[in-house]
Amino acid sequence: MHTIQIYPSLLAADFANLSQEIGTVEKAGADGIHFDVMDGHFVPNISFGAVVLHSIRKITTLPFWVHLMITEPQKFISDFKQAGADGIFVHPEIDYDIRMLVQEMTRLGVQPGMAVNPETKIEDIKEFLPYFQDFLIMTVNPGFGGQKMMADVLPKVKQIKGAREEPVRVHVDGGVNHDTVSEVAKAGTDILVAGSSIFRQKDKAGALKRLRQMANEALEKNE
Ligand code: DX5
Ligand code: ZN
Repeated sequence: MHTIQIYPSLLAADFANLSQEIGTVEKAGADGIHFDVMDGHFVPNISFGAVVLHSIRKITTLPFWVHLMITEPQKFISDFKQAGADGIFVHPEIDYDIRMLVQEMTRLGVQPGMAVNPETKIEDIKEFLPYFQDFLIMTVNPGFGGQKMMADVLPKVKQIKGAREEPVRVHVDGGVNHDTVSEVAKAGTDILVAGSSIFRQKDKAGALKRLRQMANEALEKNE
């Protein structure tokens, strides 16, 4: 059976207790950590930068994927790599040369990933698909945690897989919770990104384990 991974999104964590938060999800079986970096320009919100990854890198060996929601990603790729990023998602919706960004990421030894906004169609980004193995399908408009999932975006998971001959990994980001996880799993998702439905729960470890269990049950039924 296809196995699903879970990357808790740090945006929803208690920033006064980051090491405890990371320890809790790591022990509960998280497969990696998703970092939402926002600059107040590309999205109307500011979150955190590379210095936060740098500190957390010392307390966990989990893979780090960074979701850059910033207007000038080219200026910061190297900082995030140095801070411990394993992979970096960039958005194609703004004006810069995607190929040069990918080249820079490859040169630095960080996995390139592409983040796709809800209204962006796969055919609009077709030319970029061959450069990436990891895709982040946004099921909310980027900028804030805790939003309701736009489930009508989910068919894009299979569209991306169908558009590529090589295997790709699709992460789904936004509104993944215990009500939506079955549908997200059945859509063919490889990695669930979940913020509020893990870190904003009283029993965070239990919430993560239950998400995994529900995803696996949905896949078993789907076979
Ligand atoms: C939104 C971010 C998400 C966000 C998801 O811009 O990309 O990663 O943290 O949060 P939840 O899981 O609360 O919808
Ligand atoms: Zn994200």
